[in-house]
Amino acid sequence: MNLKELVGIEAAKFVKDGMTVGLGTGSTAYYLVKELGRRVNEEGLKITGVVTSSKTEEQAKELGIPLKAIDDVESVDLTIDGADEISDDFQGVKGGGAALLFEKVVATYSKDCIWIVDESKMVNKLGNFPLPVEVVPFGSHNVFRLFESKGYKPTWRMTDSNELLTTDGGHYIIDLHLEVIEDPHALAAELDTCVGVVEHGLFIDMISRVIVGKPDGPQILEVPKK
Ligand code: 5RP
Repeated sequence: MNLKELVGIEAAKFVKDGMTVGLGTGSTAYYLVKELGRRVNEEGLKITGVVTSSKTEEQAKELGIPLKAIDDVESVDLTIDGADEISDDFQGVKGGGAALLFEKVVATYSKDCIWIVDESKMVNKLGNFPLPVEVVPFGSHNVFRLFESKGYKPTWRMTDSNELLTTDGGHYIIDLHLEVIEDPHALAAELDTCVGVVEHGLFIDMISRVIVGKPDGPQILEVPKK
């Protein structure tokens, strides 16, 4: 079993009958959704899923997991998602799979969030993984130039056929190559006020737990309460 599968299966154990569950996006969340599908079909687990992308929606529908749209629930009990980087103090970078906006919306309306990662995602400081910033197409080249002037080394997220990638929300993604993010709170606040930016991949103070896949088994890290 690979480490992503290991943590996907481990995380599914936190899902109980009657829960509304936020279903993350990516190659790790894929295994969570697969395991929840198995439990729904084989164990009669009763859940309602809330998806974070069209990709996850497709998978969940194929597995027969009952779904509701985020707008049709007042809150989500537990969201389980992958991450691209998690720092020592449990802040994260997400959006490698281009689903950051919907992932952050679902996480924001969730009572509890868990991230599932293999051990390669655990880092001292964030920033080695390019930070995704989702932008409105209108004026986005000016946002790109603004990031260039700030020394953020922006690049456009492209598709395999070398076109600008369009997210599920109809936006573009600019990746910032920052190498190290010394102050994630300050950068998040700066990006939050940048006109044309819809959302960014800094997920600050959002989770209660991380499940880390290690060769000798899953490690569950509890995030200290603030
Ligand atoms: C998608 C995400 C993913 O959760 C993140 O990119 C991790 O993906 P993977 O599990 O494939 O490494 O944020 O927008």
